[in-house]
Amino acid sequence: MGSYGKVPEAVIRRMPKYYRYLSDKLLQGEERISSSRMSEELGMNASQIRRDLNCFGGFGQQGYGYSIGKLRDEIAAILGLDRAYGAVIIGAGNIGQALVHYSGFACEKFRIIGVFDVRPEAIGKTVAGCAIRHVQTLAEFARQNRVDLGIICTPKEAAQETASMLCRLGVRGIWNFAPTDVEVSRGVRLENVHLSDSLYVLLYHMKQQGDLTEGTK
Ligand code: NAI
Repeated sequence: MGSYGKVPEAVIRRMPKYYRYLSDKLLQGEERISSSRMSEELGMNASQIRRDLNCFGGFGQQGYGYSIGKLRDEIAAILGLDRAYGAVIIGAGNIGQALVHYSGFACEKFRIIGVFDVRPEAIGKTVAGCAIRHVQTLAEFARQNRVDLGIICTPKEAAQETASMLCRLGVRGIWNFAPTDVEVSRGVRLENVHLSDSLYVLLYHMKQQGDLTEGTK
């Protein structure tokens, strides 16, 4: 699996959904699936699913549907889940610790190899078998371990300095949970996670539904 040229961001953002869906199908012991059944179960348009997969060369056999295992493995390779990643978490509070405890990340080769904080009372404690170290020791840690990715779980005031430090240490990606925009060096990919954005969308739709219901009373 090599480079695919310019694939639209919206297509990339749908791939994890296909990956999760196909992984569940495999666990249920299924072997083949048509794009029309995928579309029914995923609530998406079948032609969109085919178009999405065609961005990467297309994997279907006309009339036979897709081999679930093969398609899942191809999508894993597209998403880079076939590689090993070492990640560090900066900020061992509620979110940082929840992430360390969560073992269900899609890629088993994605490993949290270090957790860092500044609170004296947190340093030396272990979270899910991982010792919390002082952030001042991160540079040394990064010299001795391959750190591909940094996960920012600090308060927002510390997010930019943390991002800059991670960039200096040579990470290739930053997963930012702090509710603020951070700037990263060229060549470093940034992905922000804001749970509240998703909540606001939910509340918006609930409000719309409520207003519509009220309107029909
Ligand atoms: P928390 O207060 O429990 O944990 C933050 C940790 O960061 C503390 O242990 C603190 O000692 C540490 N810290 C502070 N400055 C640091 C520095 N310079 N370097 C290393 N560690 C440092 O906070 P919580 O609840 O875990 O939230 C963490 C961040 O995530 C906050 O910015 C919060 O606003 C945000 N958040 C994001 C959500 C999302 O959807 N992405 C949802 C909820 C919170």
